[in-house]
Amino acid sequence: MEGLLVTIDGPAGSGKSSVARAVAERLRVVNLNTGAAYRAVALLALREDADPADVAVLAKLACRVGLGAEEARIDGEPVADQDLRTPEVTAAASKVSAHPGVREVLLPVQRAAAAEARESGGAVVEGRDIGTVVLPDAELKIFLFAAPEERALRRARQSGREGELDRIRQAMQVRDKRDAEREASPLKPATDAIVIDTTGLPLDEVVSRVVELAQKRSPNGG
Ligand code: DC
Repeated sequence: MEGLLVTIDGPAGSGKSSVARAVAERLRVVNLNTGAAYRAVALLALREDADPADVAVLAKLACRVGLGAEEARIDGEPVADQDLRTPEVTAAASKVSAHPGVREVLLPVQRAAAAEARESGGAVVEGRDIGTVVLPDAELKIFLFAAPEERALRRARQSGREGELDRIRQAMQVRDKRDAEREASPLKPATDAIVIDTTGLPLDEVVSRVVELAQKRSPNGG
C-alpha cells in the first residue's frame, strides 16, 4: 500500500521527536528522525578527530551514514541512541549540519528512506528542512514551535539536567540561530505547512491534532 508522508519540522525542544514518535505509532507508520543522521556524521567527526571546518572530510564521513526506521546507521550498523545524544555530539551536529556539502550527501539518503517507508505504508519524517527541501511534495507538513523558555525546560527535563537550565537555554539559542541563519536549508516553515505553537499544550493534544489532519489527508481517508 502506498502511504502518506507527514513532515514535522521545528526547532529543538518544540516537541518534534515526541510528537513524531507518537503520531507514527498511532498511524502505524515508520518514524524517520533525520536529526539522527546529522548526529551520526558529528559522532564520526569526533571519533575520527576530523576538523569541523573541513567540508571535504565531513562530506566523506557523511557518505558512511544511513537512515532507517527509528535509527541512524554508520557503515550499515545501527548507532546507539545514547551515543548520538551527548552534549558534545549535539554541539558538533549543529556545526556539521550547516555545511551544504554534508547536507547534499544526506539529502538522497533521507529521500530514499522516506520512499521506502512510503511503500511500506507511510512515514512521519522529522527534522528542520523536511517540508521545505527534503520532501516538498509530502501530503501533510507540520511546523512546531514553542516559547524558548519552555523548549529549554523540556530539553533539561529530557536529559535529567534541570540544574543546568541556563546553560541549556544559552546553547539552544546558539544552535537556533545557526539553524535559522545558515544559507543551506535554513529552519523555516514551508509555505504550505500547518504551524502549531506547542507552548503550554499537552503532548496528547498536539498528537491528536496531527493524527486528525493526517487522516483527512490520507488517500484512503485514514
Ligand atoms: O533534531 P536534532 O536536534 O536531533 O538534530 C541534530 C542537528 O541536526 C541539529 O543541529 C539540527 C540538524 N538538523 C538539520 O540541520 N536538518 C535536519 N533535517 C535535521 C537536523
